[in-house]
Amino acid sequence: TRKKKIGLIGGGQIGGNLALIAVQKNLGDVVLFDIPAAEGLVKGKALDINQLSAVDGYDCRVTGTTDWKDVAGSDVIIITAGVPRKPGMSREDLLDINLKIMRDVAANIKTHAPGAFVINVANPLDAMVFALQKISELPKHMVVGMAGVLDTSRFKCFVAEALGCSIRDVEALVLGGHGDDMVPLVRHTTVGGVPLTELLAQDKLDAIVKRTREGGAELVGLYKTGSAYFAPASSAISMAESFLLDRKRILPAAALLEGQYGINGYFFGVPVQIGAGGVEKILTPKLDESEKAALEKSFQSVKKTVDSVKL
Ligand code: APR
Repeated sequence: TRKKKIGLIGGGQIGGNLALIAVQKNLGDVVLFDIPAAEGLVKGKALDINQLSAVDGYDCRVTGTTDWKDVAGSDVIIITAGVPRKPGMSREDLLDINLKIMRDVAANIKTHAPGAFVINVANPLDAMVFALQKISELPKHMVVGMAGVLDTSRFKCFVAEALGCSIRDVEALVLGGHGDDMVPLVRHTTVGGVPLTELLAQDKLDAIVKRTREGGAELVGLYKTGSAYFAPASSAISMAESFLLDRKRILPAAALLEGQYGINGYFFGVPVQIGAGGVEKILTPKLDESEKAALEKSFQSVKKTVDSVKL
């Protein structure tokens, strides 16, 4: 079988790390695309990673480019084109500027790579993935937004830290929009099969939920010049990998809902199965009344932003 091809649109902080992780996991050859102003940046990152490959013997190669023709034929595309937050900004503050970029990117994907499985990472996440699908007109099961894997990994990280246990044994799910009212499902979280609610007191749980919701802003506050990039890159790669290797993993992602959760026509963070067919299933776990109310609040925030998007 031929080597897979991974198109990375945006070669900034997340884009560079995506390229590195994709090569280290031997997922496929990488095309790192950016605008002409960043030509040196993507050519430099490509060269640097290709030289690193000699050390450990990686077989995949990275090409830096500003030409959409090089993106053609990508099996997977991950979009990180867009401006990151600065301290004090909300993700919604990025809407106008990143929507302009998304219009350009989505139209080019439609022209050059309409067969790709496309994962959007640019913020505000749920609105950008909505715009991406509308403009590119790609089938709904081939377009997703990466947020849930990241939000869940933040939640797991804080749980493992609070318990002093291995992060590998924390099973959790964060539902909803990629904003401050996302919904970590505490009641459904287990640690090595043991319910988390039996292991931590309510005030500790509340603090973990709050820190998870504000997890992106915590990183912006520390970095000051931009937002998180290592964990976002790893999270998006896990989704790309599940598609490329047909792993059929159940991962939280922003998918187009058509009636599930009582939502119709919006992308929203829910557990999905990702395999060779793209989004192969959308799962709908039973929620109690307080979880439903929290999810509705998160949806209203997403809806407000999406409804303000003029395509
Ligand atoms: N096409 C391709 N790339 C573009 C375009 C475009 N039209 N416009 C901008 N870019 C590129 C920039 O040149 C830059 O190299 O996108 C890259 C973004 O990189 P960073 O500024 O380092 O941002 P990063 O931290 O990678 O985050 C990117 O992901 O998590 C979200 O909120 C974050 O929206 C932001 C995005």
